[in-house]
Amino acid sequence: MQIHTARMVLRPVEETDCAAFVSYYAGREEHWRPWMPRMVAESYEVWFASSLERSRVGWRDGGAYRFVGVLPDGTIATMINLSNVVRLSFQNADAGWGVRGDLQGRGFAREGLIAVLNAAFRSESEGGLGLHRVQAAIIPRNERSLALAGRVGFRREGLALRMIELNGVWEDHLIFAKLADEQSAEGERREP
Ligand SMILES: CC(C)(COP(=O)(O)OP(=O)(O)OC[C@H]1O[C@@H](n2cnc3c(N)ncnc32)[C@H](O)[C@@H]1OP(=O)(O)O)[C@@H](O)C(=O)NCCC(=O)NCCS
Repeated sequence: MQIHTARMVLRPVEETDCAAFVSYYAGREEHWRPWMPRMVAESYEVWFASSLERSRVGWRDGGAYRFVGVLPDGTIATMINLSNVVRLSFQNADAGWGVRGDLQGRGFAREGLIAVLNAAFRSESEGGLGLHRVQAAIIPRNERSLALAGRVGFRREGLALRMIELNGVWEDHLIFAKLADEQSAEGERREP
């Protein structure tokens, strides 16, 4: 799947993205460390190889849809993941997002997330993923992520205590969700 937005193409990661992937993470630890699990691979290149494989398996089996948002010069500006996809009577995925540290505050995460949500909720017969619900879990002190969730119309559902372990601490997370019928054509929040 390829999604064209005003400034990016959102698509699955490809073998040729290795350098852009490494540069998305390497040397930017202070940007990621508070909010993401530490890299466990021996190098960013090894991590890229396992991420590429995980992405391919996810797309092939329909268990996870991982998108990289690529600028015309090949830079990966944002990554938006729909993971833990459950079909049948749930039709739900967990959303995760991030933006390259030096491109934060320029609307790339919002642009990518809106496009991915549009694809998530579009029916499969119309080329979308046909999901009913997308949820997200955010640490309450992650103000940038909370602002982004609000900007794209996620609704707060509650607080999950000690939900995810991060850097040795079981962190509480706020749970947000969005349903297909809460997504407008442009991907913006609908007025009540
Ligand atoms: C969470 C995260 C993705 C948010 O990124 P972001 O760049 O702040 O989010 P957006 O894409 O919505 O950009 C919004 C900002 O861009 C500005 N902006 C500039 N140009 C813009 C444009 N063309 N369109 C929209 N917004 C634009 C907005 O005014 C806003 O600025 P502000 O932050 O000063 O209010 C980012 O902080 C991140 O990667 N954090 C680390 C990883 C992480 O926490 N992931 C989430 C775990 S739950």
